[in-house]
Amino acid sequence: MSSLFITFEGGEGSGKSTQIRRLAATLQGQGRDVLITREPGGTPEAEAIRSLLVSGDVARWTAKSEALLNYAAREQHLDQVIRPALAGGKTVLCDRFMDSTRAYQGYAGGCDLGFIDALEKAVVGPARPGLTLIFDIDPAIGLARARSRGDAQAEDRYERKGLVFHEKLREGFLDILRKEPKRCRLVDASRGIDAVADDVWSIVKAAV
Ligand code: TMP
Repeated sequence: MSSLFITFEGGEGSGKSTQIRRLAATLQGQGRDVLITREPGGTPEAEAIRSLLVSGDVARWTAKSEALLNYAAREQHLDQVIRPALAGGKTVLCDRFMDSTRAYQGYAGGCDLGFIDALEKAVVGPARPGLTLIFDIDPAIGLARARSRGDAQAEDRYERKGLVFHEKLREGFLDILRKEPKRCRLVDASRGIDAVADDVWSIVKAAV
């Protein structure tokens, strides 16, 4: 079977992680060798960078610094995990990737999109995902879900950025979707887990 690189994107509390596990089980059932990974993270060095980004004072980094930190983590992740896995024929499911930098640091954070484009070309290059699922949810609902989940309590720096940030973020993801309709597909994440999983599978099925 040929390799496949699928990324999961969207705002806070959109249920991506649950859906990644569901999709992985389905794909494994079809005999695929599946790797689940996440960004920022996926290697010890990238996880160390993650902890700098997801905790602490809400204004501790400029959006440009955040873009650079995420891209340093992404370079490690691509080099040590993603490219080798794809070369070995695996199906890689990644919880967030390059579109999160575009949406969080660019559209919502105000970092120049041309700067982010240049980082993307230099670091990701041809290793772009074949399919990107954008989980869309009203940010007020998503943030409430993320807070009530109460997991990863220390990882709430972006959740604390306020509703206006998260509204810009949602618009950013929708703009990414409009610009790359072949690679990116919308998932209405406001519904129940089973309904969302059915949607995810019908999109992925057509791509595998
Ligand atoms: P999460 O994976 O639990 O959603 O946490 C990661 C946080 O990092 C999330 O709030 C989104 C943010 N993030 C960025 O701001 N830029 C990026 O490039 C990535 C990958 C994540």
